[in-house]
Amino acid sequence: MKRLLFLLLVPVIIVVACTPSTQSLDRVIKTNVSQRPEGQRDVLQLTADPIPVVRVAFIGLGMRGPGAVSRMLNIEGVEIVALCDVLEKNVKKVNSQLEKRGLPKAQEFFGDTAVWRKVTALPNVDLIYVATDWIHHAMIGVQAMKDGKHVAIEVPAAMNMDEIWALVNTSEQTRKHCMQLENCVYDFFELTALNMVQHGLLGEVIHGEGAYIHGLQPFWDSYWNDWRMKFNQEHRGDVYPTHGLGPVCQAMNIHRGDRLNYLVSVDTKAVGNPAFIKEKRGVEVKDFRNGDHTTTLIRTENGKTIMIQHDVTSPRPYNRLYQLTGTKGFANKYPIEGLALNVKEIDEEIAKDHENLNAHSFVPENVRDTLMQKYKHPITRDIEEKAKKVGGHGGMDFIMDYRLIYCLQKGLPLDMDVYDLAEWCCLIPLTEISLDNNSAPVEIPDFTRGGWNKLNGLKFAQ
Ligand SMILES: NC(=O)c1ccc[n+]([C@@H]2O[C@H](COP(=O)([O-])OP(=O)(O)OC[C@H]3O[C@@H](n4cnc5c(N)ncnc54)[C@H](O)[C@@H]3O)[C@@H](O)[C@H]2O)c1
Repeated sequence: MKRLLFLLLVPVIIVVACTPSTQSLDRVIKTNVSQRPEGQRDVLQLTADPIPVVRVAFIGLGMRGPGAVSRMLNIEGVEIVALCDVLEKNVKKVNSQLEKRGLPKAQEFFGDTAVWRKVTALPNVDLIYVATDWIHHAMIGVQAMKDGKHVAIEVPAAMNMDEIWALVNTSEQTRKHCMQLENCVYDFFELTALNMVQHGLLGEVIHGEGAYIHGLQPFWDSYWNDWRMKFNQEHRGDVYPTHGLGPVCQAMNIHRGDRLNYLVSVDTKAVGNPAFIKEKRGVEVKDFRNGDHTTTLIRTENGKTIMIQHDVTSPRPYNRLYQLTGTKGFANKYPIEGLALNVKEIDEEIAKDHENLNAHSFVPENVRDTLMQKYKHPITRDIEEKAKKVGGHGGMDFIMDYRLIYCLQKGLPLDMDVYDLAEWCCLIPLTEISLDNNSAPVEIPDFTRGGWNKLNGLKFAQ
């Protein structure tokens, strides 16, 4: 009898032992999921009443904010009604630009870090556009929605899990849009590659890479109140993950059929930034938290992987990596834009000379250029020329603002929702937890609270 029982159990034991444990989250550090209050529902594909003329108020007019104002001046159906910054000179400078263009002056708000409350409370505003330091993003965003406004917040829109959940819950409660101003998803290569993915050219995207590698030495001393260096000094981890992660998540349909499950993170010691502080400011910092180079790996529910890096101090060329590895092809943006494809995926019309193509190298430049032309994303077709003229990181910033206004004017769902914001920002607190626990895996919550598989892929509304 014992022998029979043993023989029966052996296959069961083998099956259990061989079943991949990858989706079991037993050994990861759990993170809290804020319970969805009764009567509240998700904001997937959220729409609001069309707003033919969008009245915008800007909060935060340092290095980044004024560019957003001038881009908006190039979009029809936009009125700039209020300008706000702690510093009076920043507000006056931007307002004088409006005057120079013969536009009515915007209402001015300045003086302290709480004056923005008067702006979110204004009755004649539809959209609050936030480009302050990181610490004020989420609090302004939450209050703006409570005051009945849609809100667009610069990256990263939230810096910890409490802020992320507050934005998610407030958007769900108020049914107001809360979009993170992640411009890199609108860069031309990324949009074209996304379109290729959506047409199946790369097969199934199983691995993606992204990064923010940008030596900030020329900027450190220009940030208001030294907010950016202070945050890096006090926090370990990938504190600026959204430029790298956003475009990869879009190509992988995150919360539109797949979800981020867990991450692990490693970092180097901190050398570059403390050295900068010592050299430029004569101050010895012993406890600088953030390492020079942080690398994070993520696994998704559908068995895909993502690698994200952060480095704002090493002497390297600017790099966001942007790599998509698919089962049938590969796209790479930095340092050179290239495509590699299975030979059979290349259209006869595009490349008749198959013998010269080799899946182990990039397709020749002329083939790449033809493919880039053929798969240009539909949302860029009409506005590419104007975007390049208006500018903002080569035009992607303009496309972002244009799409935001276009969708608000037409009452369409925005390209990025509050769950994108949550997923892309959560690396900030979660990489810190992983690093402080010897690179332990940390669970990434499902910010949709059960809705990640409701939508079938990412679609930009037209
Ligand atoms: N998407 C991008 O490519 C990109 C590029 C640069 C900066 N950014 C983001 O833009 C934001 C601003 O960066 P920056 O380089 O302009 O920094 P900055 O320090 O030059 O400007 C921040 C401005 O916000 C103002 N401010 C701070 N707290 C405020 C408050 N409570 N109320 C009103 N105004 C307040 C400051 O006076 C300052 O003028 C940051 O979130 C940054 O990450 C994004």
